[in-house]
Amino acid sequence: MSASAGPTTPPAFSPTGTYVPGEPWSSGVRRGPDGALTVAGVDVRELAVAQGTPAYVLDEADLRERARSYRRAFEAAFAEVGAGVDVYYAGKAFLSVAVARWVHAEGLRVDTATGGELAVALRAGVPGEHIGLHGNNKSDAEIARALEAGVGRIIVDSLVEVERVAAASRARGGAPAPVMIRVTTGVHAGGHEYISTAHEDQKFGLSLATGGSVASAPGAQVEDSPAMTALLAVLAHPELELLGIHSHIGSQILDPSGFEVAARKVLELRAALAERTGFLVPEVDLGGGYGIAYLPGEVALDPDRIAKDVAASVAASSADLGTPLPRFSIEPGRAIVGPAGLTLYTVGTVKPVRVGGPTGDGEAESTTVRTYVSIDGGMSDNIRPALYGADYHAELANRLSDAEPVLARVVGKHCESGDIVIHDVLLPGDVRAGDLLAVAATGAYGRSMASNYNHVPRPPVVAVTDGEARVLVRRETEDDLLALDLG
Ligand SMILES: Cc1ncc(COP(=O)(O)O)c(C=O)c1O
Repeated sequence: MSASAGPTTPPAFSPTGTYVPGEPWSSGVRRGPDGALTVAGVDVRELAVAQGTPAYVLDEADLRERARSYRRAFEAAFAEVGAGVDVYYAGKAFLSVAVARWVHAEGLRVDTATGGELAVALRAGVPGEHIGLHGNNKSDAEIARALEAGVGRIIVDSLVEVERVAAASRARGGAPAPVMIRVTTGVHAGGHEYISTAHEDQKFGLSLATGGSVASAPGAQVEDSPAMTALLAVLAHPELELLGIHSHIGSQILDPSGFEVAARKVLELRAALAERTGFLVPEVDLGGGYGIAYLPGEVALDPDRIAKDVAASVAASSADLGTPLPRFSIEPGRAIVGPAGLTLYTVGTVKPVRVGGPTGDGEAESTTVRTYVSIDGGMSDNIRPALYGADYHAELANRLSDAEPVLARVVGKHCESGDIVIHDVLLPGDVRAGDLLAVAATGAYGRSMASNYNHVPRPPVVAVTDGEARVLVRRETEDDLLALDLG
């Protein structure tokens, strides 16, 4: 958590797996006197009885505080250098009607990536002009819906899409459609490092690498980059308003320098376009990807620090280039909702498994035992560990234990041996069926990436606020699943 949103020092962490408040938990998590966790004053044992498990639990005050922290940090830092900034909440991390309302009430706008996310934001009452629509393969229906809703921006991802959005805008009549061009800067960030490459081999955006254009636009030259070609194509369409340039460089970024390098490249492109055409693109979006703590001892990116660093860097780049600063925007998702969520599971089978076995060369047999702790969910409610090796932390949530800790592996109930939620975590040695386990920082890309694998109904999302629990998204039932099966 950031300095402005809570403690920045890693929490004390007992080897027994006993939780002490702090990262990676939401600020409303405490361990009560009888050893059970509470979230915003709600006892997880009561939650489990009332809502069943697995359940996603969302700490509303924590989420809102993170939204405020990001908005205030960026507004203050960019005001300092004379630039305006908008913060868009990246709904792909998790979007429901209530969450869209919360973030909008905290002064954020909403970034959507599909017609479905757009529908949720609109249902929440977020005004169209405060919504952005992304997507590398938007359907005609999605484009038409966005135009009808009067979205503030459509982030265009290819040259073909320039033509498609222009055609849709022409067919509709009225004001030109506000578009941004998504560019790939060659900067890739995530974890602690970033790398920079010239040519991009990915589906998103249009490359800045010169000579990479495989299509043309009025005024474009063969050596122009695909990004420049797309900007010129937008300018050539009266049905389009060229609002900005967009760059998203990665996820779970903990090193701010990647943002600065990418911003510089975008500002260079903006200056080059102004020199060619006299048109100065009014806005630049720097994307999302702000890293959070998933494990005890990890420290999230501090919004105050990153905002100051990036603001100072873009101000310096603009001064170098001799162009006035644009208006900026950012799109954090995980950093707003990730740490505000936890998943509550009930423990089922607990199985000690000897790891290694006989060596076969006369050496003593391995004595390492791993305790497989099976929970009542798994890869259907949290695919991130299986999908890209994401790490999580869990603790016993319904009681304290002074049993010796054991090396545990938290696994799900699905028919995949890769159905692992946590590879290695210390849990009390007496962990047993019926215990509750809480997995921290599951608010982002948990429910939003959930599936019905093995026909497992998806868990509910329960908000907790001031001692009260409220279901935001109800649990799916077998009837829900069967309702789609026409027999
Ligand atoms: C264009 C864009 N913006 C914002 C985000 C949000 O990223 P994060 O949740 O890591 O902040 C993503 C994530 O993939 C993205 O692709």
